[in-house]
Amino acid sequence: MVPSLLLASCISFTLVAAEIKLPDGPIIAAWQNWGACNDTQTIQAVERGVNVVFWFSSNLVKDGDKPKISGPLPDLECVARVRKAIKEKGLPTAHLLSIGGWDAPHPDTSFTGTEWFHAWNEWNQGLPMPFDGFDWDLEGNDYLTSPYNVFSPACLQLVVDMSAAAKAAGYLVTMAPPQTYFDSTTPHFNRYLNNSNPPDYRPEFRYRGRNSYAYMWAAAPPGTFDLVSVQLYESYAPAMQALQEGISGEEYLQSWAAQFILGWTINFNDTSLKLQGHVDVAVPASHFLIGLSFGSPPRSAFFWPETAGAAYSNAPAHLRPRGYAFWMIGIEDSLANKSNRSLSFAFGLNSFLHVRKQGRAQLEKRSLR
Ligand SMILES: *[C@@H]1O[C@H](CO)[C@@H](O)[C@H](O)[C@H]1NC(C)=O
Ligand SMILES: *[C@@H]1O[C@H](CO)[C@@H](O)[C@H](O)[C@H]1NC(C)=O
Ligand SMILES: *[C@@H]1O[C@H](CO)[C@@H](O)[C@H](O)[C@H]1NC(C)=O
Ligand SMILES: *[C@@H]1O[C@H](CO)[C@@H](O)[C@H](O)[C@H]1NC(C)=O
Ligand SMILES: *[C@@H]1O[C@H](CO)[C@@H](O)[C@H](O)[C@H]1NC(C)=O
Repeated sequence: MVPSLLLASCISFTLVAAEIKLPDGPIIAAWQNWGACNDTQTIQAVERGVNVVFWFSSNLVKDGDKPKISGPLPDLECVARVRKAIKEKGLPTAHLLSIGGWDAPHPDTSFTGTEWFHAWNEWNQGLPMPFDGFDWDLEGNDYLTSPYNVFSPACLQLVVDMSAAAKAAGYLVTMAPPQTYFDSTTPHFNRYLNNSNPPDYRPEFRYRGRNSYAYMWAAAPPGTFDLVSVQLYESYAPAMQALQEGISGEEYLQSWAAQFILGWTINFNDTSLKLQGHVDVAVPASHFLIGLSFGSPPRSAFFWPETAGAAYSNAPAHLRPRGYAFWMIGIEDSLANKSNRSLSFAFGLNSFLHVRKQGRAQLEKRSLR
């Protein structure tokens, strides 16, 4: 038997040579439910338009004195089987593994980001079908004084270093900030995830971030992150406030996307961090996805795919996002926004992004209506 350490180092050497790429053109990304691997639902979503799948989820924990990739992982044999079926259908799709989620622990900082990358890479290369990379989904915690309602400086540095190491090895690296975690509506920054809402909008809500993911983006070497999927459906976020104040969904999507893509300045005024001071932040349109979900107001902003489509086609090409991400595959075809209308984001987004050809999947969907 080949010693596994030797095997891992050979494989990671090969990987450096072969950079993994996103599918060309527009992107429709979708998250899986916690621990989910449903063959039927996943393949259907991919046939309808999804070309980036975020499998959900994993945590980076310390086990004894070793780094460990732990659950709630999906069944990894099932993931390999589904991916093989997608490949055989000739549908180019990237598969990443999420790290984190709401109420999940943040990565254990007993190990550096570089050490975490090596542990992750070795684990990943031992899978029946290794992931193409990972998606940062670190978030806050219901328990207001949880240590996971703040990013320690070491944790931010870990994310930066692990991401840079993964990118250097040829992997895809993406991030999925809730809107206030990467927030073009403010120049302010702190590491907390339990900030209060502004006094004029749901001041009792205590789970806002303040540009902590923007720090990860800005502190990492240029080119580290392939995609930023901003979750516009964050509870009581700026998007929901704007809609409540009467702006139309189409106008909001268009003006907010333009603001995000054109960039803004953030004051990283935290002396415990490596990068400090006023920094210009801009995410190129090619790296920017708008994250949508099934609703619903007044808690979280909801947009029909055709509203996204109108905002997209009426925007100048350089102010359009690369695509959209949605939460989540397991609730496709459910009733959206407490209405009587069944919604498929994959189908609706594909009808203007044309990731997949208008084919059998679309016709089937139409006949279901
Ligand atoms: C997978 O999804 C399909 C369609 O929604 C459902 O009928 C089926 O029960 C699911 N399978 C499992 C194992 O959950
Ligand atoms: C926010 O979270 C931090 C980190 O756990 C905690 O120290 C602080 O007390 C929390 N703030 C509030 C207002 O609960
Ligand atoms: C950083 O600036 C904000 C205003 O943007 C201020 O409220 C906060 O106290 C400052 N933080 C530090 C650590 O100076
Ligand atoms: C969602 O539902 C709410 C409540 O019925 C409604 O006010 C709002 O207009 C709906 N949003 C969209 C985008 O249809
Ligand atoms: C949904 O349909 C049911 C039955 O047809 C109807 O009673 C209800 O009012 C409808 N709800 C909405 C939000 O349209």
